[in-house]
Amino acid sequence: MASSQSLTCHFFFFFSLVTFSYAATDSSKPTAAYHFSIRKNETTRQYYFEYELGSPPTLVDALIDLGAPSVWIDCRSFVSSSYKRVSCGSDRCKKAHGSMCIDCNSIPNPHPKPGCSNTTCAVLGYNRFRQYLTAQELSLDTLKVSSTDGRYIHLDYDLPKFQFSCSYDDTIVTNFPGEYTKGLVGFARTKISYASQISSSFKLAKKFALCIPSSTENGLGSVFIGGGPYYMPPRIEDQSLSFVSTPLLVNPVNIGPSYSTYADPSDEYFIIVKGIEVSGKRAAFNSSLLSFDKEGYGGTKISTIDPFTTLQSSIYNRLVKDFVKAATGNKIKRVKSVAPFGACFDSRTAPKTITGPAVPDIDLVLEGKTSVRLRLYGSNSMVEVKKNVICLAFIDGGAQPNQSIVLGGHQLEDRLLEFDLAASKLGFTSSLLVSNTSCSHDRLF
Ligand SMILES: *[C@@H]1O[C@H](CO)[C@@H](O)[C@H](O)[C@H]1NC(C)=O
Ligand SMILES: *[C@@H]1O[C@H](CO)[C@@H](O)[C@H](O)[C@H]1NC(C)=O
Ligand SMILES: *[C@@H]1O[C@H](CO)[C@@H](O)[C@H](O)[C@H]1NC(C)=O
Ligand SMILES: *[C@@H]1O[C@H](CO)[C@@H](O)[C@H](O)[C@H]1NC(C)=O
Ligand SMILES: *[C@@H]1O[C@H](CO)[C@@H](O)[C@H](O)[C@H]1NC(C)=O
Repeated sequence: MASSQSLTCHFFFFFSLVTFSYAATDSSKPTAAYHFSIRKNETTRQYYFEYELGSPPTLVDALIDLGAPSVWIDCRSFVSSSYKRVSCGSDRCKKAHGSMCIDCNSIPNPHPKPGCSNTTCAVLGYNRFRQYLTAQELSLDTLKVSSTDGRYIHLDYDLPKFQFSCSYDDTIVTNFPGEYTKGLVGFARTKISYASQISSSFKLAKKFALCIPSSTENGLGSVFIGGGPYYMPPRIEDQSLSFVSTPLLVNPVNIGPSYSTYADPSDEYFIIVKGIEVSGKRAAFNSSLLSFDKEGYGGTKISTIDPFTTLQSSIYNRLVKDFVKAATGNKIKRVKSVAPFGACFDSRTAPKTITGPAVPDIDLVLEGKTSVRLRLYGSNSMVEVKKNVICLAFIDGGAQPNQSIVLGGHQLEDRLLEFDLAASKLGFTSSLLVSNTSCSHDRLF
């Protein structure tokens, strides 16, 4: 794990680079947001960030989960003099939907430690990679955050009483993706998500933006908490000026993992996809799959945990068929499929462009005032599975998945996505690759 010194060092490098490019432009706008760097692990295809918690600060490597309600860490090696557990029956415990009182006997010769004390408020922590649910101690400690005006990094601030849950149960991190990963940061629509706690503590706009990197070879991506502007060097314009937006929908029924006692309606993020186009032609499928039914099934969810977009079978089959037809019509050679993908091609027949392999564009037609399209170029629609083979990066979700479309990480990469919770809308840019930038900006990592 990187030391906190190296973290400071990336920030310094990144922002000194930015400072250098923008020294001549106006920087009088007051500090507006907090910034964290996102890393992608190419093996797990998951996204992570590091944050500093406790006194002295411990660097915690955590998995980002857009749909998770809260923040938890594996506390087995966590030491902090400012750590406070929340006692059971307290107001804070009730507000956090504390489910019960827990005692700790899980270590030999127990003595109170973070994650292991008696008569403590318990909340549930969930590892969705092995569907493991456990009671964790509700806790408070000091979080270190670094502010930004979108261009420069400012001072570090302390956020005392940052709320998370803390576990002495080693099972919670078993099979968790990422060797050093000690926890999870949730960004769902709750008061105790990572973003909500920071926004409300510093009285910032109830917004956060993700710029998810497609690779960490050329640097790290970004999370901005509290609103824009957003600068993506070497471009000098504020990317939020080119946002198009679509409503964020609340699914009236919570059909997430059944553990969630936090919300009904669901606290995950949903949008309205009205149709899918391949090279401008509408794919024909039963459009009633695109809205929620009375039980909350159907519709479109956004997830950072699903590496690739998952489609209900009939939508998937139609997309594959239409895409293959358009691609082979452009003399792109189809080759044997590589599981779990249904259509693969010889990449030598799809020349590289700045937006990835030259393949037919896929547009998600979204709800919005004018025609709102989220365009997937080759970089977002194709994945290289081996030498000279690229595949259409979508997964068959079966005949009856909970959601008909789950928009996954690969399709979200290299564009800014702003979740505006007050206005309940998702603002997004087109692929940043089009404007010769990306979400990867730190060359040191
Ligand atoms: C919790 O209480 C049990 C039973 O009274 C005791 O054996 C144990 O040592 C206590 N654990 C801690 C961490 O205080
Ligand atoms: C990516 O995850 C794998 C599997 O957990 C791990 O072995 C590897 O060290 C990780 N890579 C990096 C760069 O963290
Ligand atoms: C699908 O919904 C059911 C409840 O209806 C839930 O138990 C399950 O965890 C959900 N699956 C996913 C992947 O969210
Ligand atoms: C379309 O899908 C809905 C919901 O799954 C179903 O009730 C309806 O019968 C389907 N319509 C057609 C024409 O297949
Ligand atoms: C894009 O960026 C590359 C490297 O940063 C540079 O060499 C190239 O000239 C840029 N192209 C445009 C059109 O800005």
